[in-house]
Amino acid sequence: MPLVKVPATTANLGPGFDTLGMALELYDELLVELSPDLEITVTGEGEATIPRGPENIAYRAAMAVLNRAGRPEVKLKIEMHNRIPVARGLGSSAAALVGGLVGANALLEAPLSQEELVNLATYLEGHPDNVAPAILGGLVVAARDGDRVYYRRLEPPAGLMTVVAIPQFTLSTRVSRGVLPTRVALSDAVFNLSRVGLLLAAVQAGDLELMGKMMEDKLHQPYRLPLVPGMGEVFNAAREAGALAVVLSGSGPSVIAFCHGRNPAVGEAMAAAFAHHGVACTIKELAPCYQGASVILNTSNSL
Ligand code: HSE
Repeated sequence: MPLVKVPATTANLGPGFDTLGMALELYDELLVELSPDLEITVTGEGEATIPRGPENIAYRAAMAVLNRAGRPEVKLKIEMHNRIPVARGLGSSAAALVGGLVGANALLEAPLSQEELVNLATYLEGHPDNVAPAILGGLVVAARDGDRVYYRRLEPPAGLMTVVAIPQFTLSTRVSRGVLPTRVALSDAVFNLSRVGLLLAAVQAGDLELMGKMMEDKLHQPYRLPLVPGMGEVFNAAREAGALAVVLSGSGPSVIAFCHGRNPAVGEAMAAAFAHHGVACTIKELAPCYQGASVILNTSNSL
């Protein structure tokens, strides 16, 4: 009966659209066990909205592992205890998906390797930038080549802290991707790829100043501005309060500021700027999470 702890994730990190992501110290927990019938319970975030049927993301992911292992007849009970706010750009669906995969894999005594889990999770989610850091922890860079995902995990630089402003309203990834163009200017592509390259060099060198400078983006955030009231002002407020960088977390609507150590003034400034646009938000200071999804308890009713 595996109990899996899965971290939240922030995708893109500014310029690394669908490519970069980092795990954060905020967790969902999923208990996966054998059951005579499908049963799903949810407490905490998403309690009122997350589906309890076979369309549940964690359940679908768990069944994908059982199917791949040749055990499609197995039925499961999944208990979800959620702390990651749903549909806010903090990887809640990736956490559910990864929790289902890792839980079912543990129940079967791990037929799938970590690399197979990253590949299966990316296939199910459609992009790797939340699921890969949710599995691996740290900061992950990933590239898809057809069905295969290449990835490397990097250690987030020492001293890095984030402050996340989480608006009360939700924004689905589908809607937030729907506003993006199908073609972009070559100069915008060069702007982003030069920054991603230097951002990764800065991460490896532990250079927080350079990392912050390289987190600008021209490929997705400008198009998403109209979806998040006050986003431009929140960005300015965080920078003026001393953040190294500020970006949309994943597809939004949360805004995440990157700081050198704790800086409570950044959260206060972001909340005030959102309030100025009539948007109530919660502020969370979250450190990078160095460990990916892990089985924290496994009592013995595995298959
Ligand atoms: N890279 C994805 C996007 C992340 O920005 O749409 C979604 O969480």
